[in-house]
Amino acid sequence: MKVNGEKYRTIWVAEDGENVEIIDQTKFPYVFETTLLRTMEDAAHAIRVMQVRGAPLIGATAAYGVALAMRENPSDDALDAACLALLQTRPTAVNLRWALDLARRTLIQIPPESRKETAYKLASDVCDEDIAINMAIGMHGMDLITEIAKTKAPGEPVNILTHCNAGWLATVDWGTATAPIYMSHDSGIPVHVWVDETRPRNQGAFLTAWELGHHGVPHTVIVDNAGGHLMQHGQVDMVIVGTDRTTASGDVCNKIGTYLKALAAKDNGVPFYVALPSPTIDFTLSDGVREIPIEERSAAEVNRMTGRSESGAIETIEIVAEGSDVANPAFDVTPARLVTGLITERGVLEASRQAIATAFPERVRPAA
Ligand code: MRU
Repeated sequence: MKVNGEKYRTIWVAEDGENVEIIDQTKFPYVFETTLLRTMEDAAHAIRVMQVRGAPLIGATAAYGVALAMRENPSDDALDAACLALLQTRPTAVNLRWALDLARRTLIQIPPESRKETAYKLASDVCDEDIAINMAIGMHGMDLITEIAKTKAPGEPVNILTHCNAGWLATVDWGTATAPIYMSHDSGIPVHVWVDETRPRNQGAFLTAWELGHHGVPHTVIVDNAGGHLMQHGQVDMVIVGTDRTTASGDVCNKIGTYLKALAAKDNGVPFYVALPSPTIDFTLSDGVREIPIEERSAAEVNRMTGRSESGAIETIEIVAEGSDVANPAFDVTPARLVTGLITERGVLEASRQAIATAFPERVRPAA
């Protein structure tokens, strides 16, 4: 996507041909800054502190992390150590494991002297594949938006609610949940997006709103608790969210608060769609609520807030009564029964084991 007229991806190989450059998402929305990853440890750090975040981008960064490790030392031990270190950065988004499994499987079979070049090529392929997947999701999702647009008066927008940031900043480009929105907007279908602010880290208010604004998509930021009210009053035509891990049976793990939106959508007859790239499907799991590891993040994300003061300074302030305990589970699981459809690169699927297995037969694990 474009930033101030210049075309960007979220991750790319720097001009020197070997270091890796990212957009530092911890500075948003006040500062647009890129940063260099020179080592595998830099890549691990970027994932851990969320300079890069969003399931697909975490996977792409991990793939480049392996390439940076192979540049330093292409031995079997270094490969295993890099995969282990990168795997431990964040627990929930399964794209991380997907990318690392792919990298290890590919590199362990070839001589060490070929590993560096192959690892960079593999990371670049992971990025290109992510973009192709998101564009296909965009096309399939646009069909859904088009159908709703037909029920509207001329010029009346399709109102789409989204949670967190499943936009281009969460992927290499286009985004998952946002791809149908950008494509519809670009094709002249009027859309308006309700953007959940997404406490505690405000990915909606900081990232999604920034993205949509830069692309000229009409949008309104709301507090996380407003969605149910808007649905009751007919102001939401559909929900589209992303996912960090979806089980073989269609249970969807995504940013904390997604489940409550799905419940409200069900109660109000609002279609609830999940944009799901296939690397985000975990075919090893069936019961999302019990089996998906949920990241517990720092209390500081809940009892503090960072923003720009009236003087223009970026400041962090405390917002919780002193001495209170806080908890910070970062993701929740929406059971398949609450999901209207999964928008994948191979079409819109029912959230069921059979539909997922039929669409992605090559990924299904044989029964043990
Ligand atoms: O903690 P984050 O910001 O990495 O969480 C991101 C999300 O929950 C996204 O909605 C999800 O990764 C889908 S991104 C296309």
